[in-house]
Amino acid sequence: MNKNAMELIEQIGLIPLVNVSDPSKAAPIAKALSEGGIPLVEVTLRDKSALESLANIRKELPDVLVGAGTVKSPRQAAEALEAGAEFIVAPGLNPETIKYCQEKGTPIIPGVATATELEIGSSLGLNVFKFFPADVAGGLKAIKALRGPFGDVRFVPTGGINLGNMKEYVESSAVFAVGGSFMTPKEATDSNDWNAIKTIAEKTVEISLGFAMGHVGINCESAEEANSTALWFNERFGLKPREIDISFFAGAAVEAMKKPSFGAHGHIGIACNSIARALYQLERRGLKFRFFKKNPEGKIIAAYLEEEIGGFAVHLCGNGK
Ligand code: 3PG
Repeated sequence: MNKNAMELIEQIGLIPLVNVSDPSKAAPIAKALSEGGIPLVEVTLRDKSALESLANIRKELPDVLVGAGTVKSPRQAAEALEAGAEFIVAPGLNPETIKYCQEKGTPIIPGVATATELEIGSSLGLNVFKFFPADVAGGLKAIKALRGPFGDVRFVPTGGINLGNMKEYVESSAVFAVGGSFMTPKEATDSNDWNAIKTIAEKTVEISLGFAMGHVGINCESAEEANSTALWFNERFGLKPREIDISFFAGAAVEAMKKPSFGAHGHIGIACNSIARALYQLERRGLKFRFFKKNPEGKIIAAYLEEEIGGFAVHLCGNGK
């Protein structure tokens, strides 16, 4: 498959682990995940049959991105690449394995839990790290603290994450993707319950997107009118006015446009945890987008749907976290 693995991992934002001893189960698991919105798996090299599982997925499901996890040496990385791995995940930070993958041009996400490991990993040119074991190593609080001195770094928290506690991770812009075996529970893989895995994948994707009401956009005729519109909400409801290039906000709830924009009546901003993830899933479901607003760094900060509803344009926006 011709694709940029790191870009896809960020867009999908989830790394389900496949850890089965019967390699004939690997492709059905990956297929169920893909049907549920997660065409990506990490096969953990903890079992003699893992390389065969990996090769089966690669062969049978060309549209699924497949990586190898629990890679602890350059030799294991070489075996994984030979079996078809498109990215490598490691539990710890082994500079030899990292250098091997870099020489091969294969993305590697090594594990860290301390500033020392992050410093070594950054000096090797990496900026995405697995944070492991996430739950016991301090969770999102630790990720935020570690990010202080390493501003550009993003994390793939793994270890102890589940449907109940993943929300705080997927809401944070410091999180590149969330990994875990919770998307492929043993009860489901033991009983070949692929439908259960598809359902878990759908639920996981829904939480990772976090769609919610963002704001209502009002089309004004001028900057003055937009300013007084924002002040109207401020005076009545105490919503703090804030000017940006194209509009005045009143709190996060209302955006008064300085000149008429998309939508006869205005627009609705739907907030999400990650515009990259939302675009990936919505485009996969067939939705089309007509306009992207980017910040000076080129990052998309609003994406307008092609269609309108009830005279309103609809765009995705971030969650502000
Ligand atoms: C890993 O291999 O990354 C972890 O063991 C996964 O931890 P989890 O099973 O708690 O998701």
